[in-house]
Amino acid sequence: MTTTAQRTYNPGKGVGEPVGIAILGHGTVGREVVRLMHEYSEDFTQRIGGPLELKGVAVSDKEKHRGTLAEDLLTDDAMSLIERDDVDLVVEVIGGIDYPRKLVLAALKAGKSVITANKALVAAHAAELSEAADAANVDLYFEAAVAAAIPVVGPLRRSLAGDQIESVSGIVNGTTNFILDAMDSTGANYDDMLAEATALGYAEADPTADVEGYDAASKAAILASLAFHTRVTADDVYCEGITNITSQDIEAAKKAGYTIKLLAICEKLTDAEGKKSISARVHPTLIPREHPLASVSKSFNAIFVEAEAAGRLMFYGNGAGGNPTASAVLGDIVGAARNKVHGGRAPGDSTYANLPIADFGEVPTRYHIDMEVIDRTGVLAEIASRFSAEGISLRTVRQEEAGENARLIVVTHTALESDLARTVSQLQESEIVKSVNSVIRLEGE
Ligand code: NDP
Ligand code: HSE
Repeated sequence: MTTTAQRTYNPGKGVGEPVGIAILGHGTVGREVVRLMHEYSEDFTQRIGGPLELKGVAVSDKEKHRGTLAEDLLTDDAMSLIERDDVDLVVEVIGGIDYPRKLVLAALKAGKSVITANKALVAAHAAELSEAADAANVDLYFEAAVAAAIPVVGPLRRSLAGDQIESVSGIVNGTTNFILDAMDSTGANYDDMLAEATALGYAEADPTADVEGYDAASKAAILASLAFHTRVTADDVYCEGITNITSQDIEAAKKAGYTIKLLAICEKLTDAEGKKSISARVHPTLIPREHPLASVSKSFNAIFVEAEAAGRLMFYGNGAGGNPTASAVLGDIVGAARNKVHGGRAPGDSTYANLPIADFGEVPTRYHIDMEVIDRTGVLAEIASRFSAEGISLRTVRQEEAGENARLIVVTHTALESDLARTVSQLQESEIVKSVNSVIRLEGE
């Protein structure tokens, strides 16, 4: 086990000494980091105790950046830039996993502190990166990796380190919130909104990561690791994206008084014997229209933290985009640069609790099930009895005309994922159910 006390003290370069920075990536985020670093250089010098000096910016295609960056700063050889003796801090805003992993590990091993906005990398390789940072006695910061401008990594790591966190949940992907919000509020089309989110710089280089929920799952892994002092990777997070959500689902939700949001839910579960485990999941979720998360519009994010002593906290703000993300990256640059100048290190990972990951089938939730059934006497009672046979009680059943058939919208009371999955697959096979149109989880009542 690594503890803060076991680390050796880093004495620092001394007040007034420059801190050399290498920025890897000059896209949506990198461009804004460079611009703001330049614009507020005097403020940063005062806040840090020494000037920040930009030593180079690595890109993949130098031609694209000629005229926007000084020629002597521009390079397409990120590794050589990292290895320069005058580079103290490396900022990784490239994206992806394998290549940035090599760069970040090389930087840490060479004794450079690293700031990254890359949630996919952190969620997949936090243990390895954190060990490398510990071994070299340098900082590894990643505030921008979760919910862009919203300070949530720092509060979980520092401000709430004295509390017992029970759950962290909310909207952590700007692109999908932008799409779902527009579909709900204006009836906009999914593809048009995804194209707009991409043009605005919200989406990942491959937007599949957003719409399939992988980006939110990486963020959930990071949040769960910090909140529960346990190593959680993206593979531990149950993940469903929004690609199956139709305008019909949105309309049905609206009619019933709900809106659909892609939620990340990380919670500590306690079983009948008092044994604790962690559930981390990402999926489209129905929430009542009066719930605070329902009014989180456009690319905004919002995260609720429930802690034993602090109670309920809400973090809200810009969850995507170059400028907001640059704010979080620059906050980390100032923190790491201060440590380079004055000495010391930020707190590292804390994974001592090492709680098990709960089996997804054991997670309790409520469901909204939309299905088409044959329109004859007794069908409703038969459907209710199928749920009841699996121990699932129904809260409401609404019936609508659907041509020759009937449309049934069933809302359950709390049930286990495994019981619900079994019931739905039996219904799908039964001759009275024509189709199960959607099964969406329900939270927040
Ligand atoms: P972009 O795709 O806009 O920019 C990526 C940059 O990386 C480009 O400048 C590209 O160069 C450069 N690059 C790609 N390959 C290499 C390489 N082999 N060597 C050197 N440079 C390379 O991405 P974003 O700025 O949007 O995102 C960057 C990171 O920040 C990602 O990890 C993302 O998840 C994260 N993030 C993004 C947010 C956002 O809202 N956009 C919010 C929070 C986090 P070139 O310009 O020549 O193509
Ligand atoms: N693609 C991400 C999102 C960027 O839409 O939330 C911010 O992490």
